[in-house]
Amino acid sequence: MSKLAIHGGDPIRTKPFPEWPRPTSDLKDAIISTLENDGWGVGSAAISRFEEQFARFQDAKHCISTSSGTTALWVMLKAAGVKAGDEVIIPPYTFIATASAVLMANAVPVFVDIDENTFNLDPNLIEDAITEKTKAIMPVHIAGNPADMDAILAIGQKHDIPILEDAAQAHGSEWKGTKVGALGLGGIFSFQTSKNMSAGEGGAIVSNDETFYEKCFSYHNCGRTKGGEFYEHSFLGGNFRLNAMATSMLMPQIDSIFNDMALRDANRQRLDDAIGQIDGITLNGTYEGTTRQANHIYLTRYNADAFHGIPREKFFKAMQAEGIYTYMGYTPLYREKLFVTDVDEYPWLKGYDYSSLSMPVTERIADEEAVWLKQNHLLGDAQDAQDIIDAFEKVTSALRTSPESFQD
Ligand SMILES: Cc1ncc(COP(=O)(O)O)c(C=O)c1O
Repeated sequence: MSKLAIHGGDPIRTKPFPEWPRPTSDLKDAIISTLENDGWGVGSAAISRFEEQFARFQDAKHCISTSSGTTALWVMLKAAGVKAGDEVIIPPYTFIATASAVLMANAVPVFVDIDENTFNLDPNLIEDAITEKTKAIMPVHIAGNPADMDAILAIGQKHDIPILEDAAQAHGSEWKGTKVGALGLGGIFSFQTSKNMSAGEGGAIVSNDETFYEKCFSYHNCGRTKGGEFYEHSFLGGNFRLNAMATSMLMPQIDSIFNDMALRDANRQRLDDAIGQIDGITLNGTYEGTTRQANHIYLTRYNADAFHGIPREKFFKAMQAEGIYTYMGYTPLYREKLFVTDVDEYPWLKGYDYSSLSMPVTERIADEEAVWLKQNHLLGDAQDAQDIIDAFEKVTSALRTSPESFQD
């Protein structure tokens, strides 16, 4: 076995992974065409064209583009009827926006632990967290891997609670042949730089529900109503619109994402086939209803017990030295400083104590087991995938056979 790079050996890889996002000529042409021929903001045909196409791409009737995924979340929560003091069930293993948008809607994030096999909201734990104040359940399709939508939709139906999807990372993911986003009342996407479709910043809401869609339109557009006057404001909304240059950049990506998804699928398969053979590394699972997943980020689990108890962080250091950037990803959201809440600032949170929360699966995954690869690592060719596999094999084999070399 060759010497590990952390011990002075040659790294497996010194080349970077493919660039993301890609400034292709299609994107440049689309922006210039809009600059020269179309409106740049509100009312631009370039915006409505994108909204129609993205709705179709996600198997939804309606789409509203927004300035970010975060503003899309806020708009969606307001349009779903979430009011001050209401509770919204979310997982604690996600990007902060899932929780902060709930707080920004003057509502209460209620955390429910995740399923260790998928890192998604555990449907078996949801019903225990429902109270008379629960006004929405918001699963997150983590890394593009759909949450268990049949189970979650059934719970929503039983308790008459709308299901809102945080599909920020799940462009093109499918549940039983239908794209995610509009499986419940509505869902959001992000087009922030790292996402599988990117405009630098941006977001979208999709839905099949006309009334909800019209409310989203209002909340994202200064409280205006469709068909109403320009200076007529029926809701407390804001300017959360996306500009036409961003929607123009996104248009060609509705086509190019098909190739990217195929590439991500192929590379995921290559990695799964090889990494799945390594004792002590567990592949991330999918639910039976998943017919396609966006593979935004490749996730696995590290089991220190299989490596003489050597902690994950040593595995990361060794992998990074080999030129493969693995890292821990999210921490449990309720531990973020923002949840040490000041009741003068957040009076509706009086009586909720986030500091006493402890979610065993989230904490084990976040603190000890999760292994993330950067999103562009699935965009390379077969050799790029092989480099990742070689690094996993090289490092795990050293951890197993010469644990003493990992002592400080
Ligand atoms: C799960 C999740 N929700 C919400 C967001 C918020 O999106 P944005 O960064 O576009 O505001 C993100 C993206 O960063 C995300 O990953």
